[in-house]
Amino acid sequence: MKKVQITETVLRDANQSLMATRLPYSDYEDILSDMNRAGYYSIECWGGATFDSCLRYLNEDPWERLRNLRKHLPDNRLQMLLRGQNLLGYKHYHDDVVEKFIELSIKNGIDIIRIFDALNDFRNLGTALEATMKYATPKTIASGCISYTQSPVHTVKKYIQMCKELKRMGFQTICLKDMAGTMTPYEAEHLIKGIKDAVGDIPLILHTHCTTGMAYMTLTKAIESGIDVIDCATSCFSGGTSQPSTETMFYALQQYGIETGLDENIINKVNDYFKPIKQKYVDNGQINPKSLSTDAQALVYKVPGGMLSNMIANLTDMKSMDKFDDALKEIPKVRKDLGYPPLVTPLSQMVGNQAVTNVLVGERYKNISKEVKNYIKGEYGIAPASVSEELITKVIGKGGKPVDCRIEDRKRTGEEFETAREALGDLARSEEDIMSYICYPDQTIKFLKDRKAKEENEAVYTIEAIED
Ligand code: CO
Repeated sequence: MKKVQITETVLRDANQSLMATRLPYSDYEDILSDMNRAGYYSIECWGGATFDSCLRYLNEDPWERLRNLRKHLPDNRLQMLLRGQNLLGYKHYHDDVVEKFIELSIKNGIDIIRIFDALNDFRNLGTALEATMKYATPKTIASGCISYTQSPVHTVKKYIQMCKELKRMGFQTICLKDMAGTMTPYEAEHLIKGIKDAVGDIPLILHTHCTTGMAYMTLTKAIESGIDVIDCATSCFSGGTSQPSTETMFYALQQYGIETGLDENIINKVNDYFKPIKQKYVDNGQINPKSLSTDAQALVYKVPGGMLSNMIANLTDMKSMDKFDDALKEIPKVRKDLGYPPLVTPLSQMVGNQAVTNVLVGERYKNISKEVKNYIKGEYGIAPASVSEELITKVIGKGGKPVDCRIEDRKRTGEEFETAREALGDLARSEEDIMSYICYPDQTIKFLKDRKAKEENEAVYTIEAIED
Protein backbone atom coordinates (compact mmCIF):
# COMPACT_ATOMS: atom_id res chain seq x y z
CA MET A 1 0.00 0.00 0.00
CA LYS A 2 1.21 3.47 -0.87
CA LYS A 3 2.29 5.50 2.14
CA VAL A 4 2.38 9.23 2.88
CA GLN A 5 3.46 10.21 6.37
CA ILE A 6 2.64 13.30 8.37
CA THR A 7 4.79 15.57 10.50
CA GLU A 8 2.81 17.31 13.25
CA THR A 9 3.82 20.97 13.62
CA VAL A 10 1.57 22.23 16.42
CA LEU A 11 4.44 22.58 18.88
CA ARG A 12 6.69 24.58 16.54
CA ASP A 13 5.52 26.06 13.24
CA ALA A 14 1.78 26.28 13.99
CA ASN A 15 2.66 27.80 17.36
CA GLN A 16 5.10 30.18 15.63
CA SER A 17 2.80 31.12 12.74
CA LEU A 18 -0.41 31.68 14.70
CA MET A 19 0.76 32.97 18.06
CA ALA A 20 4.34 34.21 17.70
CA THR A 21 5.68 31.06 19.42
CA ARG A 22 4.26 31.92 22.86
CA LEU A 23 2.95 28.47 23.73
CA PRO A 24 4.57 27.46 27.05
CA TYR A 25 5.65 23.87 27.60
CA SER A 26 3.26 23.51 30.55
CA ASP A 27 0.29 23.98 28.20
CA TYR A 28 0.96 20.78 26.31
CA GLU A 29 2.88 18.45 28.63
CA ASP A 30 -0.27 16.47 29.45
CA ILE A 31 -0.96 15.48 25.83
CA LEU A 32 2.57 14.37 24.96
CA SER A 33 2.10 10.75 26.03
CA ASP A 34 -0.80 10.52 23.54
CA MET A 35 1.12 12.32 20.79
CA ASN A 36 3.89 9.79 21.37
CA ARG A 37 1.57 7.03 20.15
CA ALA A 38 -0.17 8.93 17.31
CA GLY A 39 2.00 7.50 14.55
CA TYR A 40 3.38 10.77 13.15
CA TYR A 41 6.42 10.65 10.90
CA SER A 42 7.87 13.20 13.33
CA ILE A 43 6.86 15.96 15.72
CA GLU A 44 8.34 19.33 14.90
CA CYS A 45 8.82 20.79 18.33
CA TRP A 46 12.06 22.73 18.63
CA GLY A 47 14.32 25.19 16.80
CA GLY A 48 12.97 28.02 14.66
CA ALA A 49 11.78 30.75 17.00
CA THR A 50 11.05 28.44 19.97
CA PHE A 51 14.52 28.88 21.46
CA ASP A 52 14.39 32.68 21.47
CA SER A 53 10.80 32.69 22.69
CA CYS A 54 11.60 30.38 25.64
CA LEU A 55 14.30 32.71 26.92
CA ARG A 56 12.76 36.05 25.95
CA TYR A 57 9.09 35.61 26.82
CA LEU A 58 8.41 32.35 28.60
CA ASN A 59 11.20 32.20 31.19
CA GLU A 60 11.90 28.63 30.10
CA ASP A 61 15.21 26.95 29.48
CA PRO A 62 14.95 25.75 25.85
CA TRP A 63 17.27 22.82 26.60
CA GLU A 64 15.18 21.72 29.54
CA ARG A 65 12.09 21.93 27.33
CA LEU A 66 13.81 19.66 24.81
CA ARG A 67 14.79 17.13 27.50
CA ASN A 68 11.19 17.10 28.74
CA LEU A 69 9.88 16.57 25.21
CA ARG A 70 12.31 13.67 24.81
CA LYS A 71 11.20 12.14 28.09
CA HIS A 72 7.49 12.24 27.20
CA LEU A 73 7.92 11.39 23.50
CA PRO A 74 10.30 8.44 23.69
CA ASP A 75 8.98 6.68 20.58
CA ASN A 76 8.45 9.51 18.13
CA ARG A 77 11.02 11.41 16.14
CA LEU A 78 11.66 14.90 17.51
CA GLN A 79 12.33 17.41 14.77
CA MET A 80 13.90 20.86 14.75
CA LEU A 81 14.41 23.60 12.18
CA LEU A 82 17.90 25.06 11.83
CA ARG A 83 19.10 27.96 9.70
CA GLY A 84 22.42 26.41 8.66
CA GLN A 85 25.45 28.47 9.66
CA ASN A 86 23.10 30.98 11.35
CA LEU A 87 21.77 28.31 13.75
CA LEU A 88 18.60 29.91 15.13
CA GLY A 89 19.41 33.53 14.30
CA TYR A 90 20.73 35.63 11.43
CA LYS A 91 24.39 35.88 12.33
CA HIS A 92 27.04 33.58 10.89
CA TYR A 93 28.58 31.55 13.71
CA HIS A 94 32.00 29.94 13.73
CA ASP A 95 32.19 26.28 12.73
CA ASP A 96 33.03 25.18 16.30
CA VAL A 97 29.87 26.86 17.60
CA VAL A 98 27.70 25.26 14.92
CA GLU A 99 29.19 21.86 15.70
CA LYS A 100 28.67 22.21 19.45
CA PHE A 101 25.09 23.37 18.98
CA ILE A 102 24.29 20.27 16.93
CA GLU A 103 26.09 17.98 19.35
CA LEU A 104 24.02 19.36 22.24
CA SER A 105 20.77 19.27 20.25
CA ILE A 106 21.22 15.57 19.54
CA LYS A 107 22.43 14.86 23.07
CA ASN A 108 19.34 16.52 24.56
CA GLY A 109 16.95 14.61 22.33
CA ILE A 110 16.64 15.86 18.73
CA ASP A 111 16.31 13.18 16.02
CA ILE A 112 15.66 15.11 12.79
CA ILE A 113 17.52 18.30 11.98
CA ARG A 114 15.97 20.16 9.06
CA ILE A 115 18.67 22.46 7.77
CA PHE A 116 18.09 25.39 5.40
CA ASP A 117 19.65 28.59 4.14
CA ALA A 118 17.58 31.64 3.20
CA LEU A 119 19.45 32.02 -0.12
CA ASN A 120 19.82 28.30 -0.80
CA ASP A 121 23.56 28.82 -0.63
CA PHE A 122 24.30 25.24 0.37
CA ARG A 123 27.80 26.03 1.59
CA ASN A 124 25.95 27.38 4.63
CA LEU A 125 24.60 23.87 5.31
CA GLY A 126 27.88 21.95 5.18
CA THR A 127 29.12 22.40 8.74
CA ALA A 128 25.73 21.63 10.26
CA LEU A 129 25.43 18.51 8.10
CA GLU A 130 28.89 17.22 9.02
CA ALA A 131 28.21 17.79 12.70
CA THR A 132 24.89 15.97 12.44
CA MET A 133 26.59 12.96 10.89
CA LYS A 134 29.38 13.10 13.46
CA TYR A 135 27.04 12.99 16.47
CA ALA A 136 24.30 10.92 14.83
CA THR A 137 22.47 8.20 16.74
CA PRO A 138 20.70 5.43 14.80
CA LYS A 139 17.56 7.63 14.87
CA THR A 140 19.21 10.80 13.59
CA ILE A 141 18.19 12.17 10.19
CA ALA A 142 19.88 15.09 8.47
CA SER A 143 17.24 16.71 6.27
CA GLY A 144 18.35 19.16 3.59
CA CYS A 145 15.85 21.92 3.02
CA ILE A 146 15.23 24.18 0.03
CA SER A 147 13.67 27.64 0.51
CA TYR A 148 11.01 27.67 -2.20
CA THR A 149 10.36 30.84 -4.15
CA GLN A 150 9.14 31.89 -7.58
CA SER A 151 11.29 33.91 -9.98
CA PRO A 152 12.52 33.68 -13.58
CA VAL A 153 15.66 31.89 -12.36
CA HIS A 154 13.85 29.47 -10.02
CA THR A 155 12.91 26.85 -12.62
CA VAL A 156 12.05 23.20 -12.10
CA LYS A 157 15.47 22.44 -13.58
CA LYS A 158 17.16 24.61 -10.97
CA TYR A 159 15.26 22.94 -8.11
CA ILE A 160 16.22 19.51 -9.45
CA GLN A 161 19.85 20.61 -9.48
CA MET A 162 19.50 21.72 -5.87
CA CYS A 163 18.05 18.34 -4.88
CA LYS A 164 20.89 16.51 -6.61
CA GLU A 165 23.36 18.69 -4.76
CA LEU A 166 21.71 18.05 -1.37
CA LYS A 167 21.77 14.33 -2.04
CA ARG A 168 25.41 14.47 -3.12
CA MET A 169 26.27 16.31 0.10
CA GLY A 170 24.85 13.40 2.09
CA PHE A 171 21.44 14.58 3.28
CA GLN A 172 19.09 11.67 3.96
CA THR A 173 15.83 13.44 3.12
CA ILE A 174 14.94 16.60 1.20
CA CYS A 175 12.32 19.15 2.19
CA LEU A 176 10.72 21.79 -0.01
CA LYS A 177 9.91 24.70 2.26
CA ASP A 178 7.19 26.96 0.88
CA MET A 179 7.23 29.47 3.71
CA ALA A 180 4.93 31.98 1.97
CA GLY A 181 2.37 29.36 0.91
CA THR A 182 2.58 30.52 -2.71
CA MET A 183 3.32 27.15 -4.33
CA THR A 184 0.40 26.38 -6.64
CA PRO A 185 -0.99 22.87 -7.26
CA TYR A 186 0.50 22.62 -10.75
CA GLU A 187 3.86 23.96 -9.64
CA ALA A 188 3.86 21.24 -7.00
CA GLU A 189 3.04 18.62 -9.61
CA HIS A 190 5.79 19.65 -12.03
CA LEU A 191 8.32 20.15 -9.31
CA ILE A 192 7.70 16.91 -7.41
CA LYS A 193 7.44 14.73 -10.50
CA GLY A 194 10.66 16.29 -11.80
CA ILE A 195 12.47 15.78 -8.51
CA LYS A 196 11.16 12.23 -8.09
CA ASP A 197 12.36 11.32 -11.59
CA ALA A 198 15.79 12.76 -10.90
CA VAL A 199 16.42 11.70 -7.28
CA GLY A 200 13.58 9.28 -6.63
CA ASP A 201 15.29 7.23 -3.97
CA ILE A 202 15.52 10.01 -1.40
CA PRO A 203 12.40 10.75 0.70
CA LEU A 204 10.82 14.07 -0.26
CA ILE A 205 8.92 16.30 2.18
CA LEU A 206 6.63 19.24 1.44
CA HIS A 207 6.26 22.05 3.95
CA THR A 208 3.72 24.70 3.08
CA HIS A 209 1.39 27.20 4.73
CA CYS A 210 -2.33 27.88 4.21
CA THR A 211 -1.74 31.66 4.02
CA THR A 212 -2.97 32.09 0.44
CA GLY A 213 -5.50 29.25 0.49
CA MET A 214 -3.53 27.07 -1.94
CA ALA A 215 -2.15 24.53 0.52
CA TYR A 216 -4.80 21.76 0.41
CA MET A 217 -4.86 21.77 -3.39
CA THR A 218 -1.10 21.89 -3.50
CA LEU A 219 -0.85 18.95 -1.08
CA THR A 220 -3.36 16.99 -3.18
CA LYS A 221 -1.21 17.40 -6.28
CA ALA A 222 1.91 16.70 -4.26
CA ILE A 223 0.42 13.43 -3.02
CA GLU A 224 -0.58 12.42 -6.54
CA SER A 225 2.93 13.26 -7.70
CA GLY A 226 4.69 11.06 -5.17
CA ILE A 227 5.49 13.15 -2.09
CA ASP A 228 6.58 11.02 0.88
CA VAL A 229 5.94 13.27 3.88
CA ILE A 230 3.73 16.35 4.40
CA ASP A 231 3.71 18.84 7.27
CA CYS A 232 0.35 19.38 8.99
CA ALA A 233 -0.97 20.83 12.23
CA THR A 234 -3.73 19.47 14.47
CA SER A 235 -6.89 21.04 13.06
CA CYS A 236 -7.61 23.69 15.70
CA PHE A 237 -4.08 25.01 15.14
CA SER A 238 -4.24 24.68 11.32
CA GLY A 239 -5.21 27.02 8.49
CA GLY A 240 -4.49 30.71 8.05
CA THR A 241 -0.77 31.34 8.32
CA SER A 242 -0.29 27.81 9.75
CA GLN A 243 -0.19 24.37 8.07
CA PRO A 244 -3.12 22.34 6.67
CA SER A 245 -5.00 20.16 9.16
CA THR A 246 -3.65 16.78 10.22
CA GLU A 247 -7.04 15.11 10.58
CA THR A 248 -8.40 16.50 7.31
CA MET A 249 -5.41 15.15 5.41
CA PHE A 250 -5.71 11.87 7.29
CA TYR A 251 -9.32 11.38 6.08
CA ALA A 252 -8.51 12.51 2.53
CA LEU A 253 -5.54 10.14 2.33
CA GLN A 254 -7.67 7.31 3.67
CA GLN A 255 -10.05 7.75 0.72
CA TYR A 256 -7.11 7.71 -1.65
CA GLY A 257 -6.22 4.33 -0.18
CA ILE A 258 -2.97 5.79 1.09
CA GLU A 259 -1.65 4.74 4.47
CA THR A 260 -0.50 7.41 6.94
CA GLY A 261 0.25 5.23 9.93
CA LEU A 262 -1.79 7.64 12.08
CA ASP A 263 -4.15 6.47 14.82
CA GLU A 264 -7.51 8.12 14.13
CA ASN A 265 -8.63 8.17 17.77
CA ILE A 266 -5.41 9.67 19.01
CA ILE A 267 -5.16 12.45 16.43
CA ASN A 268 -8.72 13.46 17.30
CA LYS A 269 -7.90 13.33 20.99
CA VAL A 270 -4.89 15.58 20.37
CA ASN A 271 -7.13 18.10 18.66
CA ASP A 272 -9.69 17.98 21.49
CA TYR A 273 -6.87 18.69 23.91
CA PHE A 274 -5.65 21.75 22.02
CA LYS A 275 -9.12 23.29 21.41
CA PRO A 276 -9.49 25.08 24.77
CA ILE A 277 -5.83 26.10 24.64
CA LYS A 278 -6.40 27.77 21.30
CA GLN A 279 -9.54 29.45 22.64
CA LYS A 280 -7.59 30.82 25.60
CA TYR A 281 -5.14 32.56 23.24
CA VAL A 282 -7.88 33.81 20.92
CA ASP A 283 -9.62 35.30 23.97
CA ASN A 284 -6.50 37.01 25.32
CA GLY A 285 -5.56 38.37 21.90
CA GLN A 286 -2.41 36.30 21.52
CA ILE A 287 -3.92 34.69 18.41
CA ASN A 288 -4.99 37.40 16.02
CA PRO A 289 -8.07 36.44 13.97
CA LYS A 290 -6.28 37.90 10.93
CA SER A 291 -3.71 35.10 11.05
CA LEU A 292 -6.53 32.52 10.91
CA SER A 293 -8.03 33.66 7.63
CA THR A 294 -7.00 33.35 4.00
CA ASP A 295 -5.16 36.18 2.31
CA ALA A 296 -4.58 35.70 -1.40
CA GLN A 297 -2.73 39.00 -1.85
CA ALA A 298 0.58 37.18 -1.83
CA LEU A 299 -0.50 35.48 -5.07
CA VAL A 300 -1.41 38.78 -6.67
CA TYR A 301 1.78 40.56 -5.75
CA LYS A 302 4.09 37.54 -5.59
CA VAL A 303 5.36 38.57 -2.18
CA PRO A 304 4.68 36.94 1.21
CA GLY A 305 1.84 38.33 3.31
CA GLY A 306 4.12 39.39 6.17
CA MET A 307 6.19 41.47 3.79
CA LEU A 308 3.12 43.31 2.53
CA SER A 309 1.81 44.14 6.00
CA ASN A 310 5.30 45.36 6.91
CA MET A 311 5.33 47.68 3.89
CA ILE A 312 1.86 48.98 4.61
CA ALA A 313 2.88 49.71 8.21
CA ASN A 314 6.01 51.57 7.07
CA LEU A 315 4.20 53.63 4.47
CA THR A 316 1.38 54.44 6.90
CA ASP A 317 3.95 55.59 9.50
CA MET A 318 5.45 57.91 6.92
CA LYS A 319 1.99 59.07 5.78
CA SER A 320 2.84 57.92 2.28
CA MET A 321 0.27 55.25 1.55
CA ASP A 322 -0.38 57.02 -1.76
CA LYS A 323 2.98 55.54 -2.85
CA PHE A 324 1.86 51.96 -2.13
CA ASP A 325 1.22 50.99 -5.77
CA ASP A 326 4.55 52.42 -6.89
CA ALA A 327 6.34 50.58 -4.08
CA LEU A 328 4.65 47.32 -5.09
CA LYS A 329 5.77 47.78 -8.69
CA GLU A 330 9.28 48.52 -7.45
CA ILE A 331 9.59 45.20 -5.58
CA PRO A 332 10.15 42.94 -8.62
CA LYS A 333 12.75 45.40 -9.91
CA VAL A 334 14.68 45.46 -6.63
CA ARG A 335 14.45 41.70 -6.42
CA LYS A 336 15.87 41.33 -9.92
CA ASP A 337 18.67 43.81 -9.14
CA LEU A 338 19.56 41.73 -6.08
CA GLY A 339 19.67 38.46 -8.03
CA TYR A 340 16.23 37.11 -7.10
CA PRO A 341 16.72 36.19 -3.42
CA PRO A 342 13.91 34.04 -1.95
CA LEU A 343 11.56 36.39 -0.11
CA VAL A 344 12.09 34.94 3.33
CA THR A 345 13.18 36.70 6.55
CA PRO A 346 15.41 38.76 6.55
CA LEU A 347 15.56 39.14 2.75
CA SER A 348 11.84 39.89 2.44
CA GLN A 349 12.15 42.89 4.79
CA MET A 350 15.35 44.08 3.09
CA VAL A 351 13.80 43.96 -0.40
CA GLY A 352 10.55 45.56 0.81
CA ASN A 353 12.28 48.38 2.65
CA GLN A 354 14.60 49.11 -0.27
CA ALA A 355 11.63 49.27 -2.67
CA VAL A 356 9.86 51.71 -0.33
CA THR A 357 13.02 53.82 0.01
CA ASN A 358 13.58 53.93 -3.77
CA VAL A 359 10.04 55.19 -4.29
CA LEU A 360 10.01 57.69 -1.42
CA VAL A 361 13.41 59.20 -2.25
CA GLY A 362 12.39 59.42 -5.89
CA GLU A 363 15.76 58.15 -7.09
CA ARG A 364 16.59 54.47 -7.21
CA TYR A 365 19.37 53.38 -4.81
CA LYS A 366 20.23 56.91 -3.74
CA ASN A 367 19.95 55.48 -0.23
CA ILE A 368 20.92 51.86 0.29
CA SER A 369 20.35 50.23 3.67
CA LYS A 370 23.27 48.75 5.59
CA GLU A 371 21.69 45.29 5.32
CA VAL A 372 21.35 45.50 1.54
CA LYS A 373 24.95 46.73 1.30
CA ASN A 374 26.11 43.73 3.33
CA TYR A 375 24.05 41.44 1.13
CA ILE A 376 25.69 42.88 -2.00
CA LYS A 377 29.09 42.46 -0.38
CA GLY A 378 28.24 38.75 -0.12
CA GLU A 379 27.80 38.52 3.61
CA TYR A 380 24.57 36.53 3.37
CA GLY A 381 25.96 34.08 0.83
CA ILE A 382 25.75 33.81 -2.92
CA ALA A 383 22.64 35.27 -4.58
CA PRO A 384 20.65 32.91 -6.85
CA ALA A 385 21.42 35.12 -9.89
CA SER A 386 23.98 37.87 -10.40
CA VAL A 387 23.47 41.19 -8.65
CA SER A 388 23.14 44.22 -10.95
CA GLU A 389 26.42 45.79 -12.06
CA GLU A 390 25.10 49.21 -11.10
CA LEU A 391 24.59 48.11 -7.51
CA ILE A 392 27.94 46.34 -7.29
CA THR A 393 29.67 49.48 -8.55
CA LYS A 394 27.78 51.62 -6.05
CA VAL A 395 28.51 49.42 -3.04
CA ILE A 396 31.83 47.68 -3.70
CA GLY A 397 33.28 49.80 -6.50
CA LYS A 398 33.65 49.22 -10.21
CA GLY A 399 34.53 45.63 -11.09
CA GLY A 400 34.29 44.71 -7.40
CA LYS A 401 33.53 41.16 -6.34
CA PRO A 402 31.37 40.05 -3.42
CA VAL A 403 33.42 38.41 -0.67
CA ASP A 404 33.21 34.67 -0.49
CA CYS A 405 30.42 34.33 2.03
CA ARG A 406 32.68 35.00 5.00
CA ILE A 407 33.99 31.45 4.75
CA GLU A 408 37.19 32.87 6.21
CA ASP A 409 35.31 34.05 9.29
CA ARG A 410 34.23 30.55 10.17
CA LYS A 411 37.51 29.35 11.62
CA ARG A 412 37.44 27.38 14.84
CA THR A 413 38.76 29.98 17.23
CA GLY A 414 37.03 29.05 20.45
CA GLU A 415 36.58 32.78 20.80
CA GLU A 416 32.79 32.75 21.05
CA PHE A 417 32.94 30.14 23.85
CA GLU A 418 35.58 32.08 25.78
CA THR A 419 33.61 35.33 25.59
CA ALA A 420 30.47 33.53 26.74
CA ARG A 421 32.24 31.75 29.61
CA GLU A 422 33.72 35.00 30.89
CA ALA A 423 30.46 36.91 30.58
CA LEU A 424 28.46 34.25 32.43
CA GLY A 425 30.90 33.41 35.25
CA ASP A 426 29.14 31.26 37.84
CA LEU A 427 25.76 31.82 36.19
CA ALA A 428 26.62 29.09 33.69
CA ARG A 429 26.18 25.53 34.89
CA SER A 430 26.42 23.68 31.60
CA GLU A 431 27.56 23.81 28.02
CA GLU A 432 23.89 24.33 27.18
CA ASP A 433 23.82 27.57 29.21
CA ILE A 434 26.90 28.77 27.35
CA MET A 435 25.33 27.91 24.02
CA SER A 436 22.15 29.79 24.93
CA TYR A 437 24.28 32.83 25.70
CA ILE A 438 26.13 32.62 22.38
CA CYS A 439 22.78 32.54 20.57
CA TYR A 440 20.87 35.09 22.65
CA PRO A 441 23.22 36.88 25.09
CA ASP A 442 20.89 39.45 26.69
CA GLN A 443 17.94 37.10 27.11
CA THR A 444 20.18 34.36 28.50
CA ILE A 445 21.84 36.60 31.10
CA LYS A 446 18.42 37.70 32.29
CA PHE A 447 17.11 34.14 32.33
CA LEU A 448 20.11 32.79 34.26
CA LYS A 449 20.02 35.63 36.80
CA ASP A 450 16.33 34.95 37.39
CA ARG A 451 17.06 31.26 37.79
CA LYS A 452 19.77 31.97 40.36
CA ALA A 453 17.60 34.41 42.31
CA LYS A 454 14.75 31.95 42.34
CA GLU A 455 16.96 29.17 43.66
CA GLU A 456 18.39 31.40 46.38
CA ASN A 457 14.87 32.34 47.46
CA GLU A 458 13.87 28.71 47.54
CA ALA A 459 16.93 27.89 49.64
CA VAL A 460 15.96 30.56 52.16
CA TYR A 461 12.42 29.21 52.40
CA THR A 462 13.70 25.69 52.94
CA ILE A 463 15.93 26.79 55.85
CA GLU A 464 13.05 28.76 57.39
CA ALA A 465 10.80 25.78 57.06
CA ILE A 466 13.27 23.60 58.93
CA GLU A 467 13.67 26.18 61.73
CA ASP A 468 9.91 26.32 62.18
CO1 CO B 1 6.98 27.16 7.96
